[in-house]
Amino acid sequence: MTINPNNHARDGGRASSQMEIEAVAHIAAMFGWQTHLGHLTSGGTFANLEALWVAGQLAPGKRVLASDQAHYTHNRISAVLQLPFASVASDQQGRMELNALEDELRQGDVGTVVATLGSTALGSVDPLPEILALRDRYGFRVHVDAAYGGYFRLIADALDTPARLAFETIDQADSIVVDPHKHGLQPYGCGCVLFRDPSVGRFYKHDSPYTYFTSHELHLGEISLECSRAGASAVALWATQQLLPLTPAASSRAASRPDAVPPWNSTGACAMTGDLLPSQPHPNLILSCGRFKPAPRRRALGLRNKFSPIALRSTYTWR
Ligand SMILES: Cc1ncc(COP(=O)(O)O)c(C=O)c1O
Repeated sequence: MTINPNNHARDGGRASSQMEIEAVAHIAAMFGWQTHLGHLTSGGTFANLEALWVAGQLAPGKRVLASDQAHYTHNRISAVLQLPFASVASDQQGRMELNALEDELRQGDVGTVVATLGSTALGSVDPLPEILALRDRYGFRVHVDAAYGGYFRLIADALDTPARLAFETIDQADSIVVDPHKHGLQPYGCGCVLFRDPSVGRFYKHDSPYTYFTSHELHLGEISLECSRAGASAVALWATQQLLPLTPAASSRAASRPDAVPPWNSTGACAMTGDLLPSQPHPNLILSCGRFKPAPRRRALGLRNKFSPIALRSTYTWR
């Protein structure tokens, strides 16, 4: 296990489990949480599944709502969990429409609202402060899917006001998902789910007579739906965060790389293909694909002017 650690139990990944606990705590602190329950997952989909699973344990049979710009997997995850799902219309900027949301809430059967902070197609940011205010009136759980946008918390000051306010209130969500394998500079698969209330760990309680021998400390398998999980992902994330701590300074270093290009050019055409986009997007956040500088081997192969099939990813903000 020393060369292939398994973070299910400390028995299989003593150092890598500790690294996961530390790395996840740093991510939680980025969102303003000093206490939390959380762990890494194979990716955003599984992380969202865990968040909605806990939500379903707390409000069995109640509906899950997400905007029509939310990731398609929320509908499918809800079906797997046998929770009714409904899609809420979004406005012209791709943000959840609050009147449409309140129409659904008036029906009195909503257990969870998924707020997307950084939608996959548009980079739009749902109006989290207003959704939280509705939570006070109607009583539901707020899950933030920041799989793609979560690291923008570090540069919230640079965003437009609605997006900034959404990231500044993210600490009031009940659960958050962020994907280190998106803007956290990690290889696949590395997602992360976080819960504000550590007591939801009770839902994960199980007996496992064949693991958990060598330590009385928490084993991550005790708070995860998956059994075996790659310790290597935790080691890589921990090392990255040591090198580039989760601070605004480190994130702007990553974003200001000279090889980063925005995905749209000034005429509204896709920067990579030149195709005209159907409409000019006005996203709150932009994910850009980067140009690889020609490496000697690529040059030798005559690939000098082609994009690498493995796009570098970096962040841009849009006022
Ligand atoms: C907002 C959002 N949620 C969830 C997902 C799913 O994440 P994954 O592909 O890591 O399962 C994505 C992926 O693009 C996403 O953008």
